[in-house]
Amino acid sequence: MPDRFTILVTGGAGYIGSHAVWALKDTGWPVAVIDNLTTGFRWAVPDDVPFYKGNVEDSTLIAKIAKKQNIGAIMHFAGSVVVPESVENPLKYYDNNTAKSRSLIESAVANGIKHFIFSSTAATYGIPEESPVTEDTAQVPINPYGMSKLMTEYMLRDVSAAHDLNFCALRYFNVAGADPGGRTGQSTAGATHLIKVAVEAALGKRDSVAIFGTDYDTPDGTGVRDYIHVSDLAAAHVHALEALVAEPERNHLLNCGYGRGFSVLEVLDAVDRVTNQKISRKLEGRRAGDPDSLISDNRAIMKRFPWQPQNADLDKIVAHALAWERKLGDIRIE
Ligand code: UD1
Repeated sequence: MPDRFTILVTGGAGYIGSHAVWALKDTGWPVAVIDNLTTGFRWAVPDDVPFYKGNVEDSTLIAKIAKKQNIGAIMHFAGSVVVPESVENPLKYYDNNTAKSRSLIESAVANGIKHFIFSSTAATYGIPEESPVTEDTAQVPINPYGMSKLMTEYMLRDVSAAHDLNFCALRYFNVAGADPGGRTGQSTAGATHLIKVAVEAALGKRDSVAIFGTDYDTPDGTGVRDYIHVSDLAAAHVHALEALVAEPERNHLLNCGYGRGFSVLEVLDAVDRVTNQKISRKLEGRRAGDPDSLISDNRAIMKRFPWQPQNADLDKIVAHALAWERKLGDIRIE
């Protein structure tokens, strides 16, 4: 067991970051959080975790945290994630996801932080040439969001070759669900992604769910995605950390999904099953930039890490998302 340095989680007050904070705590890793709270929530960070409200590009602050908290690794979740917004405002994405990551990586090098785990995305593949998508599938992003993340993968590759730092980029497929213990979940208002929207509809927070396109080249004509439970994703980050520490010369670029897909209709049916009611569906046209099907080939991560998904079940993902959505009714979103 290596010295237990502290992990700095950027964006630790956000959706995926807050689950990673719990996963680290649950496995005994000391953790500290930096978050500027533009989309995250202070209450999402456990009380006993040191919290810094600030920006990842603030190199003075990162240096201070690195020293005070004995930071040995960074998990970098902070960033912007809305694909259509990235098309409208690409410079925001190249700033938040690329330029600020550059600054944070520079701070890691300057402060002797040797391990870096990065939230990358299946959006780096664009409309993939093959399905399931392997890590060797060509990365041709079709929007600034995907490109802004891909550029950070490139930076990490180059910096790790030149400096004493190794990295893992996890390319997330469709992240959904919430902590099975109800400690955190997806809390940002105005979310656009399917499972969140569907459970909001099931609870009467929306009238209906739009189905964006029924003429895709898929078995039922609706878009197919590989939905991964956020807690399994968070656990993968802990494995990534432990792999980076165990083999400091090695980097990892890995898909993070379950390797199987569900259509929009199958997801909505799951929500109906779990809630024992029928949500109202509205057929609409295709949303710009949506691929027909996006399924991960996850053999590499399964081989590389001792990762055992605990929640690879669509109904369970939906049930946890629903439980959190109910709980949000009581939580004040500041
Ligand atoms: C999601 C991620 C994106 C990531 C990608 C990788 C979010 C917000 N985006 O995008 O960052 O790169 O996975 O796979 O999590 N749909 C509807 N009605 C709705 C919402 C969605 O029919 O109201 C359909 C979409 O057209 C798509 C599927 O549901 O076929 C999933 O959409 P969504 O949840 O928005 O995620 P992605 O666009 O796949």
